[in-house]
Amino acid sequence: MAESMKGLSRSHRCTEVNNSMIGNEVTVMGWVQKSRNKGGIIFVDLRDRSGILQIIFEEANVGTEGYGKAEKLRSEFVIAVTGKVTKRAGAVNENIATGDIEIVASGIRILSEADTPPFPIEENSKTKEELRLKYRYLDLRRPDLQKNLIMRSRVTTLTRAFLAEEGFIEIETPTLCKSTPEGARDYLVPSRVHPGNFYALPQSPQIYKQLLMCSGYDRYFQIARCYRDEDLRADRQPEFTQIDMELSFVDVDDVIDVNERLLAKLFKDTIGVDVPLPIQRMTYKEAMERFGSDKPDLRFGMELTDITDVVKDCEFVVFKGAIEAGGSVRGINAKGQGGMPRKKIDALVDFVKGYGAKGLAYIAIGEDGAVKSSFAKFMKDEEMNAIIEKMQGENGDLLLFAADRTKLVYDVLGALRLEIAENLGMLDKNEYKFVWITEFPLLEWNEDLNRYQAMHHPFTMPMEEDLPYIDSDPGRVRAKAYDIVLNGTEIGGGSVRIHQNDIQEKMFEALGFTMEAAYEQFGFLLNAFKYGVPPHAGLAYGLDRLIMLMAKEDSIRDVIAFPKIKDASCLMSEAPNVVDAKQLEELGIALPQ
Ligand code: AMO
Ligand code: AMP
Repeated sequence: MAESMKGLSRSHRCTEVNNSMIGNEVTVMGWVQKSRNKGGIIFVDLRDRSGILQIIFEEANVGTEGYGKAEKLRSEFVIAVTGKVTKRAGAVNENIATGDIEIVASGIRILSEADTPPFPIEENSKTKEELRLKYRYLDLRRPDLQKNLIMRSRVTTLTRAFLAEEGFIEIETPTLCKSTPEGARDYLVPSRVHPGNFYALPQSPQIYKQLLMCSGYDRYFQIARCYRDEDLRADRQPEFTQIDMELSFVDVDDVIDVNERLLAKLFKDTIGVDVPLPIQRMTYKEAMERFGSDKPDLRFGMELTDITDVVKDCEFVVFKGAIEAGGSVRGINAKGQGGMPRKKIDALVDFVKGYGAKGLAYIAIGEDGAVKSSFAKFMKDEEMNAIIEKMQGENGDLLLFAADRTKLVYDVLGALRLEIAENLGMLDKNEYKFVWITEFPLLEWNEDLNRYQAMHHPFTMPMEEDLPYIDSDPGRVRAKAYDIVLNGTEIGGGSVRIHQNDIQEKMFEALGFTMEAAYEQFGFLLNAFKYGVPPHAGLAYGLDRLIMLMAKEDSIRDVIAFPKIKDASCLMSEAPNVVDAKQLEELGIALPQ
């Protein structure tokens, strides 16, 4: 039977009890981690969110009734214990904070009994994630997840305090919004009052925060839930949280400055990591050329080398064909991997094919200088030597090449570089390498739509020096946009916004919008700008990604209390679900039979 707490109050959390309190009486409450009956003495590990405390039940101290209750204890029972803090009689346990003390119980109440959980509640669980997610409320009892969520809370608390200190005002914006098709796919919510009409859940508070700048709030922030109906990956959820901000009367450097100080504070005060400021900046172009990625992982080298010039006259059709078609040939040097077995190289070839590569050419240089290569037979010796020289190949190195459209070559080698580093265990989670990526292209060509699309969003300001090309050569215009990248993950991004109507109109033209269509979708923003708009800029972090890296986890699911799985469903609540015919009828929705 579950007992009440009447007349009892908790004096400490488990690990708040320590060896300076020996002789004191305490009352602790929590879950039974484990219970062992050693004939006459029952040892119980009591767990709460702070950690574990050992309790000892002896009939002489706890009485016959109390001892009887202690005998019944099983894992996950919820109990309250009163007792005396004592120096541990047995061996000291170095692994836990309270390893040198124990509580000799004088009273116990069983606050709730528990069925045997479907998996053990323990750190570094070996249980399959599906089972853990089905019973997420139990999974969340595990110390690793508790540590992550506590860290997350600490980060948002520090963020609020820091931004308030910097003059930011926290303002909530709607989550029932107007659907605007630029960007990812929207989650839609049907309107009952307006049959056939839908709200969209916000992909970000972007338009609202710009309106707040028009309204004079000067510096806004919000810890905002965002919704995007995208294909999910380890660092993507359909709903996720942004630390979102917008500032008036600022340019790129002002946004970067306040955010560098925010990041430095968060890393220092949560995980004790010093972030050296200023954080390195790299243009998009440089990032692509050197790392094949706009979110380069700078914890290791293995940079890309362009060998197009070196091989432009060779007879190898793969290289020649790619160059003639306007593409390029580039390679990476996996230092010291020249002895990689053929099977492993073949696995790399398969890996790059997953990225759309037609193949992967290689040169393996033995420790003795002997060269093995998949394409040597098509090359002259001096051509091979020129490639090796350009690649700075040395004995024992493995050189890998992709030839294709340059964008594909970047994608392939960017991914390959990471794959090799991962396979070789070169990625140290204790190392934090930040970089700002700047000067993104304003627009990117969408093959399917046969038009340009905003790379960031339609309100991003072009770089002043590129404005002349917005009509004649939109593809070459760079944007005043910036991403903050940490260890190869884009943890945040933002831009200076367009606040001049003429530039905004040109932007919509470049995107293939008529002004009517632009007003139809974004009229409330464009109209607001007619009444006096300050120059403004902002940025948003993916909070989940930030915490994932701070907590050294591989997936954002490990830092979200109730995450969804790959198909966007929740294994615990079984959302999404079929709804009542009546609900649908009220909404005026008929499902296909
Ligand atoms: P952006 O679209 O780059 O910018 O989003 C900002 C940051 O949010 C994170 N993020 C995600 N995290 C988890 N799951 C997802 N599906 C997901 N999508 C994005 C990323 C990303 O860097 N309004 C602009 C910001 C601005 O311009 O101020 C915006 O939303 O870490
Ligand atoms: P093949 O003549 O098709 O056997 O190709 C010779 C070598 O070139 C093989 O190692 C292929 O994997 C490699 N290869 C094929 N296409 C490409 C490409 N687009 N880029 C780099 N290497 C390629």
